[in-house]
Amino acid sequence: MSEPIWKKSGRHEVPEAIMRFLAGQDVELDRELLPFDIRASQAHARGLARIGVLTDDQASAMCRELDALARAFDDGEFVLDARFEDGHSAIEAWLTERLGETGKRIHAGRSRNDQVAVALRLYLKDRLARLSALCADIAEVALRRADSERGVPLPGHTHLQQAMPSSLGLWWAGHAEAFVDNAELAASIRDWLDASPLGTASGFGVNLALDRDGVADELGFARLVVNPQTAQAGRGKVELRAIDALSAATSDLRRLCWDIGLYASQEFGYVTVAPEFCTGSSIMPNKFNPDGVELLRALHASVAGARVELDSVLSLPSGYQRDLQDTKPPVLRAFGRGLEGLALVPALLAGLAWNHERMRDSMAAPMHATDRANELVAEGLSFRDAYRKVGDELEALAERDPADSLAARVSPGGCADLLLDRIEARLRAIRVDEY
Ligand code: ARG
Repeated sequence: MSEPIWKKSGRHEVPEAIMRFLAGQDVELDRELLPFDIRASQAHARGLARIGVLTDDQASAMCRELDALARAFDDGEFVLDARFEDGHSAIEAWLTERLGETGKRIHAGRSRNDQVAVALRLYLKDRLARLSALCADIAEVALRRADSERGVPLPGHTHLQQAMPSSLGLWWAGHAEAFVDNAELAASIRDWLDASPLGTASGFGVNLALDRDGVADELGFARLVVNPQTAQAGRGKVELRAIDALSAATSDLRRLCWDIGLYASQEFGYVTVAPEFCTGSSIMPNKFNPDGVELLRALHASVAGARVELDSVLSLPSGYQRDLQDTKPPVLRAFGRGLEGLALVPALLAGLAWNHERMRDSMAAPMHATDRANELVAEGLSFRDAYRKVGDELEALAERDPADSLAARVSPGGCADLLLDRIEARLRAIRVDEY
């Protein structure tokens, strides 16, 4: 590892093994954060020039070299590896190597504490925007299919027992609305954490008149985290809320995949999953399994686990503690795997092929009991008497065309009145806001 940026003359040496332990996975994780750290460093340099700590030429040279670093990193010419303690040190080393004395001026008025905090907020804003857009994509497919398959009967279950006739329209629209909720949630958490901690330095402010507002503006933040102590305390807290938004989506995905897996089993036989989401068995030649659906269902486990890990690190007093470095692995892991999985869902949904006949055939006559009871209510009976009467004569219930049952389910949101336009309107509003 190169000289740490905190090294002072004549002081102690930290043995390699301990340095390696302290660095942990930092350099690898910082590969995801480096582009954001570079952007923030450029804004910081321009801010320093505005208050006369750097000359305009020095700031321009830094910004130019930081652009070159971003390009070299993209092309793979620059690798963030164990030569560096972390991404922050790598930035300073790059500037110092290229600009000499000028490069050494970048860290005026900032600490790695606000540097990492700002990079993480920029990262989370980017990932939450993607999360919101992915949830909207999922809702879009589900809504389109709710519209085109609105009248197709689907047996409705509660307790995994047959309950009432339902429709593909209701099933699709239900999942669509859930993902509209999740898209809105991601966007609102994004707005909630859209504040710049840069310029709070080590957590106590600095004796330079930093142009914090100008720097925040340039980075596209809506506001500042005003108090330096709060800026530090925000570490982990904002990540937790971001993971909450992700976990809302992955837990709804878990339920959706449960439905699909169940409906795809031979016992149900309602749906076929597209072959690209399936694999075979190494021993049973007859098998073709929906592994893609199952691993998407399992996605929530890693997000929920990351949330617990993150929350467990945060049992800390005020002020920066090195423990906070350990908030990065769960967050980056959860968003990495989570967004990768969610991106596959629109294709999974678009590829589902329903077996209409099978769904219709598995609709047994007793499933019409509740509709029958409500018909008697419409004829003037109290609901409880109607319930008992139908319950006593269950065997006598006539077979019905489920389509008639669906057509009569006129309560708003029900099978005959899905109110897709209302779900669609919310979806459009999110799409307008896409980042
Ligand atoms: N890798 C560190 C982290 O993620 C960077 C900040 C280090 N700050 C310090 N005061 N040692 O927290």
